[in-house]
Amino acid sequence: MVSKPLLFYDSGAGGLPYLKAVRDRLPGARYVYLADRKNFPLGEKSAEVVRQVVLESVSLGMQRFDPCLIVIACNTASVIALQTLRERIPVPLVGVVPAVKPAALSLKGGKLAVVSTRQTATGPYLERLIQEFADGREVIKVPVADLVSFAEYDYPTAGTEQRLAAVRRELAPLLEEEVRAVVLGCTHFVLLEKEFRTVLADGIALIDSREGVTNRVLSLLADRIVESGSTDAGSIEAGSTEAGSPSPGYAELYLNGGIGEEKRYRAFADVFDLQYRGPLEEPPRGA
Ligand code: DGL
Repeated sequence: MVSKPLLFYDSGAGGLPYLKAVRDRLPGARYVYLADRKNFPLGEKSAEVVRQVVLESVSLGMQRFDPCLIVIACNTASVIALQTLRERIPVPLVGVVPAVKPAALSLKGGKLAVVSTRQTATGPYLERLIQEFADGREVIKVPVADLVSFAEYDYPTAGTEQRLAAVRRELAPLLEEEVRAVVLGCTHFVLLEKEFRTVLADGIALIDSREGVTNRVLSLLADRIVESGSTDAGSIEAGSTEAGSPSPGYAELYLNGGIGEEKRYRAFADVFDLQYRGPLEEPPRGA
């Protein structure tokens, strides 16, 4: 019996590095990645609309793939819709939210910056995280909508110089500030991690949520993870990370919407070693 997949949801390609982080630790599992192209950019929509469209799309993914666990690999969707999803979706959910707590814990003092979509930067969830976990440090919120679009549309074809120029342009106001750490509060920015590292001065920590999310996924699945070769129904093979060793797991990439985006998403699928499956067909009316 094939175990149920882990479903990763984002509005685009931003969640792919999160899938990779989990897959590196659990290569024997099955993965489905759903890029909700119909609803990008979530960060420019009202909270009410984000809540509604994320619920619709995640419910569609739930019906279609029957996952054992869902990672909402999008900060904007998580900070706005996670509570609603938890009330309606009957499988464990892991959200991705800005890593304010790990950032504050890792620093002795000094200012933090959170770079995110406009919706995450202006909403109450990030403010609550700051009040609760920033330990009184100043936190600068930096909304950078254009960089989200750059990561989504230009990342696969842009050269290093173009990527660096895009990050430099968007971070210009932040480069004047004396911050000790920058939190990547939008999953799309993890695609540009190398460029952020180059543009930011040495000594400024760059922090995202991959480790925390991966640990959370592994702890939620702990009782199902078995050594390779087990035939237990519903179990997930731990797999192996050794080069060349066969793994029972594989990963597929689907789009919700995304007509005309095949070429770009095939490129993303290649970079992250997923099988490109294309747009989800709509369920028949009345089904
Ligand atoms: N990847 C999403 C996030 O982490 C943002 C993309 C969007 O605006 O749809 O916030």
